[in-house]
Amino acid sequence: MMVGGVFYIKECYEKTTGMIAEMFFFLSRAFFCLLKFWSLCAGTVIGNLKLRLWGCRCRGLVRCFGIPRVEMAASRQIEIGKNNIFRSSVISNPVGICHPVYLATRGAGHIRIGDDCGLSGVSIVSFSSVTIGSRVQIGANTAIVDTDFHPLDAASRAIPHATGKSAPIAIADDVFIGMNTLILKGVSIGRKSVIGAGSVVTKDIPSGVVAAGNPAHVIRKLDV
Ligand SMILES: CC(C)(COP(=O)(O)OP(=O)(O)OC[C@H]1O[C@@H](n2cnc3c(N)ncnc32)[C@H](O)[C@@H]1OP(=O)(O)O)[C@@H](O)C(=O)NCCC(=O)NCCS
Repeated sequence: MMVGGVFYIKECYEKTTGMIAEMFFFLSRAFFCLLKFWSLCAGTVIGNLKLRLWGCRCRGLVRCFGIPRVEMAASRQIEIGKNNIFRSSVISNPVGICHPVYLATRGAGHIRIGDDCGLSGVSIVSFSSVTIGSRVQIGANTAIVDTDFHPLDAASRAIPHATGKSAPIAIADDVFIGMNTLILKGVSIGRKSVIGAGSVVTKDIPSGVVAAGNPAHVIRKLDV
C-alpha cells in the first residue's frame, strides 16, 4: 500500500515536471520566433534606410536581420542586387555571428553584390574592387578583403596612412563559402565552387570544385 503511494507520487511529480518543461520549451520557442521576427522587421527598415542614406545603389529591399554597417569613401561605391539577405544579429544564425555584416570602401574601392545572395556576419572591405555574383552564400564571420591594408616594408609602414597592395576579388555565381573563411586580395573563385569552412583563399579557385584549407587548395571536383 505504502509502496504504491510512493510510486503514485513519483509518477505525478514526473508528469508535472514534464508538462512544465514542455510549456517552458513552447514559450521559449515563441519568444525566440518573436525576437527573430522583430530583428527582421526593425533590421530591414533601419538597415535599408541606412544603406540608402550612405548612398548604396540597391536594386531591391535587402532583408536584414539586425542592422548592417556601412562605410564608404565616396557615394555609390556599393551596389546591391535584388532579394539578398544580410544576417547581422546573433540570433539570426545558429553558428553564432560575431559582428554585423560590414561593407566598407576606401579610396576608389567598389563592392558589387548580385541577386539572391546570403551573407552572415560577413566583412567586405574594398580598396580596389570586390565583385560577388548571384546566388552566392557566404558563411558566418567570413572576411573578404582586397587589400593588405599596410605596406610590407617597415619603412613605408611607418609613414602615416600608407596603404599596402590591393587587387580585385571576383566571386562568380552560385559559389558557397563556408564559415570563418578569409578571402584575400587578387583572388577569383569560379562558378559553383565550394570553399570549406575556415579556409584562407590566397590563389584563384577554378569553377565547379570543393577547395579548403590554409592556403585553400582543390580537394575534389563537383558534378556540375
Ligand atoms: C568543404 C565541405 C563542404 C566539404 O564537405 P565534403 O565534401 O563532405 O568533404 P569531406 O568531409 O568528405 O572531406 C574531404 C576532405 O577534405 C577535408 N576537408 C573538408 N573540409 C575541410 C575544411 N573546411 N578545411 C580543410 N580541410 C577540409 C577533409 O579533411 C577530407 O580530407 P581527406 O580526404 O584527407 O580525409 C565541408 O567540410 C565544409 O567545410 N562545409 C562548410 C560548412 C559551413 O561553413 N556552412 C556555413 C555555415 S554559416
